[in-house]
Amino acid sequence: MNFKAFVTEETKKGFVSNVIERSLEDLPEGDVLIKVLFSSLNYKDALSASGNKGVSRNYPHSPGIDAAGIVEESNSDEFLAGDEVIVTGYDLGMNTSGGFSEYIRVPKEWIVKKPDNFDLEESMAYGTAGLTAGLCVRKILFSGIKPKDGEVFVTGATGGVGIVAVMLLAKLGFEVVAITGKETEADLLLSLGATEVVNRSEFEGDMKSPLAKPRWAGGVDAVGSDILSNLITATHQRAAIACCGMVGGVNLNTSIFPFILRGLSLLGIDSAETLIDVKKEIWNNFATDWKLEKINDQIKDVGLEELSFEIDKILKGQQVGRVRLKN
Ligand SMILES: NC(=O)c1ccc[n+]([C@@H]2O[C@H](COP(=O)([O-])OP(=O)(O)OC[C@H]3O[C@@H](n4cnc5c(N)ncnc54)[C@H](OP(=O)(O)O)[C@@H]3O)[C@@H](O)[C@H]2O)c1
Repeated sequence: MNFKAFVTEETKKGFVSNVIERSLEDLPEGDVLIKVLFSSLNYKDALSASGNKGVSRNYPHSPGIDAAGIVEESNSDEFLAGDEVIVTGYDLGMNTSGGFSEYIRVPKEWIVKKPDNFDLEESMAYGTAGLTAGLCVRKILFSGIKPKDGEVFVTGATGGVGIVAVMLLAKLGFEVVAITGKETEADLLLSLGATEVVNRSEFEGDMKSPLAKPRWAGGVDAVGSDILSNLITATHQRAAIACCGMVGGVNLNTSIFPFILRGLSLLGIDSAETLIDVKKEIWNNFATDWKLEKINDQIKDVGLEELSFEIDKILKGQQVGRVRLKN
């Protein structure tokens, strides 16, 4: 059987992506064949589609690190034809043919059954970026940080991770300071629950001092580099910062002082390799106590043919909110 997929190829002119016909035999071995109804655009997909060999080594390749759909064939008792399922991370879309396609075939260990009171369409409004925001918030809560402890920040606030982190922290009662490069989106961030919006230029440049006046009880950082360096210096006692991204750069210049004099915890997040039971927990949370009423407002739905345009935008840091692929 043939189906459509977004495929990136290495050519003499560089990496080029097109929507082409593929056949089921082109898919890798795996326990479960899934008809993909939805996927979402994440920063890592843009790296894969532009030939970043740290993400995808072999081309031609279909990116797409997440997918939601219906089981079509399965050789596992855990998943039956017709089950509605979600797959995020592990090797999907990296070196395993990904969700920017009408079909994927994956190992059963990568799959989560869709929770009740949640639909597949909604799951890819969150997508990997939303799951990652959830993982960040989970670790911050495990550190014991509570709304009464003070302000928390979110960097890259208008991006995929950022926008879900702002909404979720606000829903849980935190005072959320949204740090953004897009002042034009301040009203949007306030409407999603931010209590204040600050331009990221305030935190750019070299770390000014290893310890600054304490402001933050914690935060979610999707940016890294100088901005994270400067935020780390201004934490209260026992603060917790979850860091997951590197759109601002991969280096982190810091000192030991916030850690040994203020007990700061810097919590790393790797959503791809997160244990499947923890992924299930986050999806169940989004279906229940963490349900975000406004999640669907921040979505742009696109088809396979429109992905290239959206990939360019995410690489330029110009996306606002989430982009969902609808097959
Ligand atoms: N560790 C994990 O498991 C995991 C999972 C998902 C994503 N990530 C990473 O998290 C990061 C964000 O992902 P995303 O999907 O949210 O991407 P995104 O939708 O492109 O959002 C990133 C946001 O960061 C801000 N930004 C862009 N360029 C910047 C720069 N040079 N300096 C400072 N801020 C900049 C922009 O927001 P403002 O204009 O509002 O500032 C942008 O919208 C990426 O590095 C991604 O790889 C990691």
